Amino acid sequence: MNRLIDRLSAEHVLPRTDFVQLISAFAPETASYAAECARKTAQAVFGNKIYIRGLIELSNFCRNDCYYCGIRRSNRKAQRYRLEKEEILQCAAEGYALGFRTFVLQGGEDGYYTTERMADIVSSIKRQHPDCAVTLSVGEQTRETYQAYFDAGADRYLLRHETADEAHYSRLHPAELSGAHRKQCLRWLKEIGFQTGSGFMVGSPFQTAENLADDLLFLADLQPEMIGIGPFIPHHDTPFAQMPQGSVELTLFLLSLLRLMFPDVLLPATTALGTLDPVGREKGILAGANVVMPNLSPQAVRSKYMLYDNKLATGAESAQHIADLRARFAKIGYEIQIDRGDSPRVKTLN
Ligand code: 5AD
Repeated sequence: MNRLIDRLSAEHVLPRTDFVQLISAFAPETASYAAECARKTAQAVFGNKIYIRGLIELSNFCRNDCYYCGIRRSNRKAQRYRLEKEEILQCAAEGYALGFRTFVLQGGEDGYYTTERMADIVSSIKRQHPDCAVTLSVGEQTRETYQAYFDAGADRYLLRHETADEAHYSRLHPAELSGAHRKQCLRWLKEIGFQTGSGFMVGSPFQTAENLADDLLFLADLQPEMIGIGPFIPHHDTPFAQMPQGSVELTLFLLSLLRLMFPDVLLPATTALGTLDPVGREKGILAGANVVMPNLSPQAVRSKYMLYDNKLATGAESAQHIADLRARFAKIGYEIQIDRGDSPRVKTLN
């Protein structure tokens, strides 16, 4: 297996059958070898620096009904909230003072934020913080809306493809959503000029090693600037409440494979990883990740943005505890970088 890892390091992609073999024959020795190679690769590009992003969870209203997600529209128990522009600007100002230079505005697909409202929020943040990047993560929109966000100054967009396999996609989502349309959205985002992020859950219900291999191959084709992956974690008020959670080890292994495939990609150690393992974030960094996204949302709404059970919202997860995070990373030899942290592939004027 180490031979396959060496080949992936050198060639950045493998035939589907080799990916399937690597993933299905997953063993701890292979994972630690992959992590070592991935860590060296990340260090060659980013040194020992970790980029931070302040996550602002705009709204948990969502028009969609994804079977895995706690803020799906059918979840009558979710206590819905949305942030107004002034609250969002307040979060960004607080984040700026803490050293954040990227703000990620993430939310359910909430029709309250019309194209004009969202564009106004983006341009207001950019006006107040011209040295900051704004990342949007507000789901599937029309091409025109994406263009309007971009014209308002948004720099990056996150939209996980969730699973590249159409049949698998339709087992995770109601029929009104399609994997093909989601991929179309990703192509639009790239064409418009966003630094684009995609990704998937590890261990989502019905997922096979072949599905994961196809996820890697889809990403090889898309060439995103950012990739977000995390373990599936069941939420008790969803149809997948009884499904088993994803594996931390397999997530770490996939982070390493992704780093070897995309040496300069922006790869977060995600909240879901930190939720399943108290040192998940550190393990993610040591497996090749180079980004963390602490929470900047107002305290009062944090417990409401529950995509899955036990989602972290305090402690080192909280942007306000950045000193803890800094200390935790120092222990493993890494430093937080105060910087926009753009993709090395993109030359920005800022
Ligand atoms: N477990 C893990 N990740 C989840 N997401 C949504 N629900 C869950 C869950 N139950 C992820 C999806 C989405 C991102 C914002 O959160 O991949 O794209």
